[in-house]
Amino acid sequence: MGELTTNVAVGGDPCGTICDAGVLVRNGRVAWVGPGGADGSALPGPDGLPVIDAGGRAVIPGFVDSHTHLVFAGDRAEEFAARMAGETYAAGGIRTTVAATRAASDDDLRVRLRSLVDECRAQGTTTIEVKTGYGLDVETETRLARLAAEVTEEVTFLGAHVVPAEFDGRADAYVDLVAGPMLAAVAPAARWIDVFCEDGAFTAGQARPVLEAGRAAGLGIRVHGNQLGHGDGVRLAVECGAAAVDHCTYLSDADVEALAASDTVATLLPGVEFSTRQPYPDARRLLDAGATVALASDCNPGSSFTSSMPLMIALAVREMGMTPAEAVWAATAGGARALRRTDVGAIAPGMRADLVLLDAPSRVHLAYRPGVPLVRRVWKDGVEPR
Ligand code: NIG
Ligand code: FE
Repeated sequence: MGELTTNVAVGGDPCGTICDAGVLVRNGRVAWVGPGGADGSALPGPDGLPVIDAGGRAVIPGFVDSHTHLVFAGDRAEEFAARMAGETYAAGGIRTTVAATRAASDDDLRVRLRSLVDECRAQGTTTIEVKTGYGLDVETETRLARLAAEVTEEVTFLGAHVVPAEFDGRADAYVDLVAGPMLAAVAPAARWIDVFCEDGAFTAGQARPVLEAGRAAGLGIRVHGNQLGHGDGVRLAVECGAAAVDHCTYLSDADVEALAASDTVATLLPGVEFSTRQPYPDARRLLDAGATVALASDCNPGSSFTSSMPLMIALAVREMGMTPAEAVWAATAGGARALRRTDVGAIAPGMRADLVLLDAPSRVHLAYRPGVPLVRRVWKDGVEPR
């Protein structure tokens, strides 16, 4: 192959780039990575394993999309069109999808979910997080978590997405439901808990007990915050030791410093700003401060109905001050950090053989050729699904 992005840092290159490289895969794992393997001749004992000549094309780790909301029914194309005609995005639109999702059968939700996961895979995503959050009652949240668990290990319970209509004026009672019976029902199918801490959703005071209850139930913590304006989400996430705080569009200096001094990953979701016409988050400011940045799609029917990680890379480079190398790292190794995964996001011995072959000589083309389908082949655990 041509350029290989290993994400095993060498010198000043966090992408650990190897030119004219080879990768040996055995039993779904990477067994060897090195230079001089373009025609298979340098590989240590391939033992008759098939050799794939990438013909000078680039290979990167599979994308790790650490933030999606893929279990839902219906769409909100009209809301999008109204926004493009001048309306502003409001979290209240979530209730439209909640109504459609509650009314949908498991089979309908499953068919939609699987087709979206296939869509992600075809675009190079090999690890995906999927949130609940369009059920907002015990029965539907439990259904959504179980369906999500059919397609990924990275299931996040987002019962605290917004207050559902039947709890209007009784937000605290809803918080008690989420942190109590709903969590108890959903936790067995989930790995993470998440809260939307924002004006129009939940205050930090309401979010904190939900996150703490999740932690007590054995779940890791993630937070949606600082999406629509300045607020307490980042501070709350760092104080709670969250693995990631996602959106990070409006940050104070104190937020940036807190992120830089913590292990909490700042996950940026530029599909949202693209689809809501809000200002993009300032990735450069976070990177220069020393924070760890991930990129994710936030694929959902309201604020970002795209599953394309290559689009996130192109937007991050064009609009958010990231270099192509930083953006590719953030969409692969950054996502792995945000999910606290050490088996994906890099191409090194022992890691899962999750690989993407690009129809391009270098990863730069992902940003340089926006909108072009450059993902040529995808392997997950060494297997090509198509
Ligand atoms: O991550 N921010 C909150 N939740 C989603 C949007 C969901 C929706 O609009 O349906 C997000 O952007
Ligand atoms: Fe989200």
